[in-house]
Amino acid sequence: IARSEPALALLRWYDSAARVLPWRVSPADRAAGVRPDPYRIWLSEVMLQQTTVAAVKDYFHRFTTRWPDVQALAAAEDAEVMAEWAGLGYYARARNLLACARQVTELGGFPDDAKALRALPGIGPYTSAAIASIVWERQETVVDGNVERVVSRLFAVTEPLPKSKPKLTALAEILTPAQRPGDYAQAMMDLGATICTPRNPKCDACPLSGFCQAYAQGIAASLPAKTPK
Ligand code: ADE
Ligand code: SF4
Repeated sequence: IARSEPALALLRWYDSAARVLPWRVSPADRAAGVRPDPYRIWLSEVMLQQTTVAAVKDYFHRFTTRWPDVQALAAAEDAEVMAEWAGLGYYARARNLLACARQVTELGGFPDDAKALRALPGIGPYTSAAIASIVWERQETVVDGNVERVVSRLFAVTEPLPKSKPKLTALAEILTPAQRPGDYAQAMMDLGATICTPRNPKCDACPLSGFCQAYAQGIAASLPAKTPK
């Protein structure tokens, strides 16, 4: 019962507007059968958990140059990895990163479904859905702040965060297509980063404006509402 129209419009936009990122396989290459490297997707998603794309790029380059695959990272000394992580913050992530690399190496590779991925150190619902959809083409839904913002606007959900989280997750799941779920996830991230931005969303340039209830009501910039802390 996926609502395919917005997803198709979003994928059409992504085919021409996808950001070029060091870990990403372009939509054209993906369509030609190029598979994303699970190691690079996992590493980038862990780095992106609390850090911006701009800040992650250099770290990603240094890590993948020094440790080109998960086996190489698994064999690194703890102190080397901690030193290379310095500046990214949240050092528990670096410890989990190494523990995860070692488990994956023991397993002989990254698991190919979200549930097994979630059992690994440092991999929660967000990262497992990202890897399962982007790498393995599983119909899993990535929900981060970008996705919550886009969905709250598409459906004009005025209930504030965090109370609205379950509703936004359910709506994001309904939108997720069976075809190209990984490109769909990346397209939602790009839309949230470049068009459906927190302030001054560029609705005139948005591929989803025809489906967007907040745009129709003129309330886009006010969503998502947030309960003051
Ligand atoms: N933020 C988190 N994951 C991302 C991804 N795969 N592409 C772009 N931005 C992201
Ligand atoms: Fe976001 Fe505007 Fe697009 Fe709606 S029309 S999804 S508010 S950018």
